[in-house]
Amino acid sequence: MIIAVDGPTASGKGTISKELAKHFSLPFLDTGLLYRAVGWTLRLQGGNADDPIDALNACTFDGQLLDNPDLRSETIGGLASRVSIHPQVRRALDKRQKDFAYQSAGAVLDGRDIGTVIAPDADVKLFVTASSEARAVRRFEEMKRRGEPVNFDDILADILKRDARDQNRSAAPLKPAEDADLLDTTDLTIGDAIQQAIALVNAKINRRRDKDPA
Ligand code: DC
Repeated sequence: MIIAVDGPTASGKGTISKELAKHFSLPFLDTGLLYRAVGWTLRLQGGNADDPIDALNACTFDGQLLDNPDLRSETIGGLASRVSIHPQVRRALDKRQKDFAYQSAGAVLDGRDIGTVIAPDADVKLFVTASSEARAVRRFEEMKRRGEPVNFDDILADILKRDARDQNRSAAPLKPAEDADLLDTTDLTIGDAIQQAIALVNAKINRRRDKDPA
């Protein structure tokens, strides 16, 4: 079974995807980390994130880099969003994600274009959203916990900028697949959001079973 989970930053999709992978015993890939690794490598190489050639040259990162917790910083997230608009970069990361999605054990992948481009025939597609304010509050609390200097207005502005870039790029923009189930987590605790996601997956499996009994 392939479960595709897409949505904007801080919507809860990362936590939900990890829990779905655990619940259904499936391998999990956070595809945002691949774009973050490109952003990280580009910074080390002194490249310009808006230059497609510099960004492509940064796609040759070592797989071990994906374990580096520093990839999760806001700065690297911003660079990841900038390099991800280049079709060359998306093509360079395409095979790795498709190989993961179509492995025989099945998979859960989270990202922006999993249900639309990477695994368009995924068994289950979830599009996880939340209002920009709710997402900014979550990011604010998370950064405060990590002891990072935070300003709410800056965080909200950054989220809006990142959304606009992810949604308006021409290559694989962030949008729900036509057959995706929407999960709005604005007013949900993370525990409730996970339970609803599990229920949506089970409902989809049951619908398919009813339509196509073995
Ligand atoms: O999910 P994240 O915040 O770690 O992703 C960082 C950036 O990477 C995001 O702003 C856009 C890009 N990205 C993408 O374009 N496609 C994906 N499948 C995953 C992430």
